[in-house]
This record gives sequence, structure tokens and C-alpha cells, in this order.
Amino acid sequence: MGDQAKRGKGLELLLQLSLEICSQRDLKSVLNSVWKELTRVLQAERSSIFLLDEESKELQSVVAQETDQIRFQRQKGIAGRVLATGLPMLIPDAYADPRFNPEIDRITGFRTRSILAVPMKGHSGSVLGVAQVLNRKDGNPFDEEDLALLEALAAIAAVAIETVQLYEEQLRATEAVIAALVKGLEMRTENGGAHASTVRELSSLTAKAMGLEEARVKLVEWAASLHDLGKLAVPDMVLHKRVALTPEERLLYEQHALWTKKLLEMMDFSGDLAAVVKIAPFHHKEFQGGGFPHGPPEGTDVPLEARIIGAADSLWCKMNPRFGERSMSLQEPWPI
Ligand SMILES: [Fe+2]
Ligand SMILES: [Fe+2]
Repeated sequence: MGDQAKRGKGLELLLQLSLEICSQRDLKSVLNSVWKELTRVLQAERSSIFLLDEESKELQSVVAQETDQIRFQRQKGIAGRVLATGLPMLIPDAYADPRFNPEIDRITGFRTRSILAVPMKGHSGSVLGVAQVLNRKDGNPFDEEDLALLEALAAIAAVAIETVQLYEEQLRATEAVIAALVKGLEMRTENGGAHASTVRELSSLTAKAMGLEEARVKLVEWAASLHDLGKLAVPDMVLHKRVALTPEERLLYEQHALWTKKLLEMMDFSGDLAAVVKIAPFHHKEFQGGGFPHGPPEGTDVPLEARIIGAADSLWCKMNPRFGERSMSLQEPWPI
């Protein structure tokens, strides 16, 4: 491949990475295919991406060719040096460089000759990992032009990786807040019982058994955790009453579904979780029409996810006769 053709291919790769990162495709598979192409364009033997795992203090490969995942201590080898300094490195002869760590070659059976390694920096300039390309096939060392292409690709990839990491971090924090909220709610309503968490588990099992795709199962799980959140707004004397509710009390009780809706709207979930508010408040709606809260959606318009949670809710009542017996009786309702 001539220099001109190589430059053209490099630009194509940059464009491909930018476009595919904006698509909904799984980031790891996008990076895998672009890095594979990068190996070909730079006429190299292998290329990889290592990310720093803060917990284990290791560099771990998330993209690698013809080998299982590689991991090593963050300070080791050329990649460790790039991580520490935040500067790129062009190594013409790996084994002649005392900073090179031959341990990985011993494990993988590969023989490293030349190395091109660049840091992957996030928004704040912190180094998240290292991108590298190994062994130019023509035996020459990598050059400044190869370096420029790898740096450009690594910069785009680093920002995309950091965005995913931040999103996952935010999701974990939200999950922790919700778990604490649900625990508090359970302690208030059932003397330390586990209504919401059991309904979540039953709903999740049902959704999986029905073959719902992973994102929908996740949505069912979140909505099930939060389905009775509105009980926070129901007076204690109604919530803890062990005999039949008066019509007025029944009305107050039924309002928990509306309160679930209001509280979830205040939480203002975004992304994958935005639909929770369209599901959780409707777990008392009935398939044949009716139930509460009154108004749409009705009957078969009630989302499948809400009906799954409703079924799990009723099953919980059966499994917990102390609460459930009355709830299953129309004459003496003790709804959960
Ligand atoms: Fe409920
Ligand atoms: Fe419930």
C-alpha cells in the first residue's frame, strides 16, 4: 500500500469510527472492528487497547487480536510507561529497550519487535488506558504518520469509552439510591419484609421466561423495585390497618399508584430508564379493564411490563398470607 493509499485508508478509518460511535452499536464491537482494520492499514501484526482498572491497578485488554484477555500491573512495560507519562512512544526494537516487558510474549507465544503506543485521554486529560500497534510487517519501525493516525483514533475512542464509563457509574449510583429507598419503604410498610425486592425478582424471572430482551427485563426490574414507591404518601393508619378499609381509606390507599407516578416524574429518569414512569404506576390495572389509577391506559393497552409486575404482586400476596389473604378477597380487601 503506497503512502497516499495509506493516508486515504487512515481517513476512512477515522470517519468509520466517528460514525459508528454515534450509532447504537455496542462500543466494544465497534472498537474491535476498527482496530482490526487499523492493523491492516498500518501493515502491522496486532493492535490492542488496554484500559486501566482502578481497583486491581492493572492494565487490561478490551481489544486484542488472536489472544485471550491480557492483564498486567499498571506500571509494567511500554504500555505502563505511556500510562504514567501520558506521552506516546515509538519503539523500533522492543527487546533492545530495557523498559519493554517480555512477560506477555512468554505467556502469549507472540514475538514483539516494533511498538507504537499512545495514551488514551479522557475529557479532563487523565489517562484511561493505552492503544498500541505491534510489528510492522515490512520490518521497518513505525513512523510519525502511523503515530498521528493512532493518536487520532485513540482520542475518539477514549472519549467514547469515558462516556460509557460515566454512564455506568451514574447508573450504579442511581441503583444504590433506589435500593436504599426501597429498603426504607419496605421497613415502613411491612416491618422489615421484602415486598418490593421479591416482586422485582419474580417479575424479572417472568420477563426472562417470556423471552423479553435484556433491556426490557432491566426495565421490568427497575419498575418492579419502585412500583409501590407512592406508599410513602399513604397515611400509616391506612397502611398498617389489619381489618377492612373503609371506602375513604380505600381511596387513600389507591392513591399510592398515582403517588408512584408523581414521585417517578420528579426523579426524571433519562435514557433506558425513562419508561419506568409508564410502567410502575399501573401495576394495579386489570387485564379485563378496571383497577387503579382510574383513566388510561386500560385493559390490553396497559404495558406488558406493568402486567408482569401486577402478576408478581398478586403472587407475592399468595406467598405471604399474613398480608395476602385479605388482599385476595374482594369482601375484605387488604391490597398490597
Ligand atoms: Fe401497589
Ligand atoms: Fe406491591
